[in-house]
Amino acid sequence: MFKTVEEGLAKIKVPSVEKPEDGRGQGFYNPVMKENRDISVAVFSVFINKYFPSDKNVKILDALTATGIRAIRYRKELDGVEVWATDVNENAIKLAKKNAILNNVKIKIEKKDANLIMHERGFDIIDIDPYGTPVMFIDSAFHSIGRFGLLAVTATDTAALNGVYPIVSERRYGIKSVKTQFSKELGTRIILTHIIREGMKYDKAFIPLLSYQSRHYIRLFGLIRKSVEKCNKLLRNIKYFFLADSKKNADKIYLGPLHNKKFCSLVLKELQKRKLDGKKIALLAHNELDIPFYYDIHKLARIYKKNIPRTEKLIKRLKKHGYKASKTIFSDIGIKTNVKEAEVIKYFET
Ligand SMILES: C[S@@+](CC[C@H](N)C(=O)[O-])C[C@H]1O[C@@H](n2cnc3c(N)ncnc32)[C@H](O)[C@@H]1O
Repeated sequence: MFKTVEEGLAKIKVPSVEKPEDGRGQGFYNPVMKENRDISVAVFSVFINKYFPSDKNVKILDALTATGIRAIRYRKELDGVEVWATDVNENAIKLAKKNAILNNVKIKIEKKDANLIMHERGFDIIDIDPYGTPVMFIDSAFHSIGRFGLLAVTATDTAALNGVYPIVSERRYGIKSVKTQFSKELGTRIILTHIIREGMKYDKAFIPLLSYQSRHYIRLFGLIRKSVEKCNKLLRNIKYFFLADSKKNADKIYLGPLHNKKFCSLVLKELQKRKLDGKKIALLAHNELDIPFYYDIHKLARIYKKNIPRTEKLIKRLKKHGYKASKTIFSDIGIKTNVKEAEVIKYFET
């Protein structure tokens, strides 16, 4: 049984199930990922307008397509793109083909392993949106994108990355995760470090454009450039990081910028223009201080037995005293600042 849903400019058939997981094997569709897809449309649009303004053949691969929703939206909502879509599931491919016809769009849809197509063909933009970890697709994506392009990656194994299963994180990403007040950013930087290292094997730099965690997933967008200089610049930002509460837990981790602010402001404008979801995320990325990690205001208040201040108020107070401070994309109750923990606490009380 199928039902029709509308998302962006697409109208597609999806399995008529109670929970999205029940549709696995038929053509998985999760409506809460609309925000992820909306942001992707805006990011790809900004990327194409900036770097391929007159190219009518920008090649996009939706490598794990399921119902075909991403591929269809990219074809309908972006100008001058050639879209390919693959999935290993037979039913998903049948459904994606039906949905492409329903939407009257030309997409090259094939039942094929994502790794295989990425070794057979070159693409300018690749979207990797799997169940769980994307780790098995990253190497192939760097193989497929040549000297320049854009790679978008979703990871839903946030329990491993955010410190619930540190050993799983160490196995998959080579870095042990840990539960801390800034776990969401640590988890995001762990997978980012892994992706950057995978690219550097081929002298390809993954330069973060936008990195965030929302609901149950992490989403990363990076510019790919084949450049030894750019790789070495990234390498200089992979440094030993010691957690204050666990000195023996030191690992090398990417501590450089998570976003390109100018790019994020263009993404925000694009989301506004197109009336899409994700504006809060783009705005937070644009305004976020480029300082690794954040304080959890509630946690500090508990530890130091203080009243909880409002995030905005605390930021204002710190700025008034000449410090840098901003919200973080990772938590509504987190702040980024250049002030040490003991000093921040002083500004909890008026
Ligand atoms: C989370 S779903 C994709 C959801 C889709 N991107 C969306 O936005 O609705 C993951 C899909 O990856 C497919 N898949 C799993 N392993 C694959 C592989 N090695 N190559 C291609 N597709 C694969 C599954 O069959 C499933 O349809």
